[in-house]
Amino acid sequence: MSPGSILSKLFPSKALDALSTASASTSVESPRSKYASSCVFIFSFYYRQNTSAGPDLFDYPSSRVDKEEIVRFLHARLPCVPIKVIRANSLEPDAQVFRMRTNDEHKHLIGAVVFKDHDQVEFREVKYFCTAYQGGGIGTRLMNALKEDSIEAKLFHIVLYASNTAVQFFAKQDFLNFPDQIVGLSKSVVLARIEQYQRSTLMACDLIDLFPKKFSFLLSPDTVQAGDKVIVSHGMRHARDEEGVVTETKGKFKIKVRYPRWTSDSDEWITIGAKRLKLPVSDDQNEDDEEDNTIMSRIKKIRII
Ligand SMILES: CC(C)(COP(=O)(O)OP(=O)(O)OC[C@H]1O[C@@H](n2cnc3c(N)ncnc32)[C@H](O)[C@@H]1OP(=O)(O)O)[C@@H](O)C(=O)NCCC(=O)NCCS
Repeated sequence: MSPGSILSKLFPSKALDALSTASASTSVESPRSKYASSCVFIFSFYYRQNTSAGPDLFDYPSSRVDKEEIVRFLHARLPCVPIKVIRANSLEPDAQVFRMRTNDEHKHLIGAVVFKDHDQVEFREVKYFCTAYQGGGIGTRLMNALKEDSIEAKLFHIVLYASNTAVQFFAKQDFLNFPDQIVGLSKSVVLARIEQYQRSTLMACDLIDLFPKKFSFLLSPDTVQAGDKVIVSHGMRHARDEEGVVTETKGKFKIKVRYPRWTSDSDEWITIGAKRLKLPVSDDQNEDDEEDNTIMSRIKKIRII
């Protein structure tokens, strides 16, 4: 499949006739090349160069003026949220602003997302997600671009509080109720890190379940089975390693871990390849070190960042 057809699959034109014009292109300009593998880099480079498909432009505006425009755009669509709050959340150092514009001479702003990445626990927290108008397919294309960008950043989940009027929209974008319907991301991990809102629904999208092939790089050559010992990092400022036992597996990517020193309701599902997780080295890998056979000595980090 040519890159052009990949792009047109990712960002199918739906109903932008009113705003966009014939000479369309789709590009994502992400500052995240630091994360990119060489393949992703080549693909991203093509993304930026391509001018032949798709009606939208995506980028990360960096100037204060552009960000202020987005703050006003968001406030117009979320009038209940004070503009000061939107500005503070959009301009804080860890926040990122993702913009969608028409690919014509007008470059109309038609969509914006403000989010924060929790890289150490591999999820993206969306704070605001708005489109210029409803029902024109912009939200779907914006979400597809956000998912693609999150995968490029090696994040496993997108998490957000959906206002009750937007729950159905996010459900159509493969968001599920969190934590009940999401396997592989712990409630405690999320709630310790995100701002919480009332009168809204916490939802998450599992990118690994949706795009398993994009995450095949996470899979270890050693299979993990029930009964295996693992070490899992817990906490934020004072993170500590806790010894656990795998009690269940689901597909290739998810394992359920029980902590013998904790109560059974602290069991959690973790994704293989998560930065929190360390797996034991196999016996042949470990044969050089027969003297020291404690679990800590037999643990390897599955992913080297
Ligand atoms: C919610 C929002 C992002 C949806 O964007 P959009 O451009 O209308 O989305 P799309 O046109 O791609 O809609 C995709 C599908 O979701 C449905 N949908 C969109 N908004 C919906 C809503 N509020 N309630 C129920 N369904 C909705 C559409 O009907 C469409 O269904 P279909 O695929 O069966 O035709 C947009 O309306 C918006 O910005 N709202 C105001 C801000 C907001 O509430 N943001 C979310 C919380 S921060």
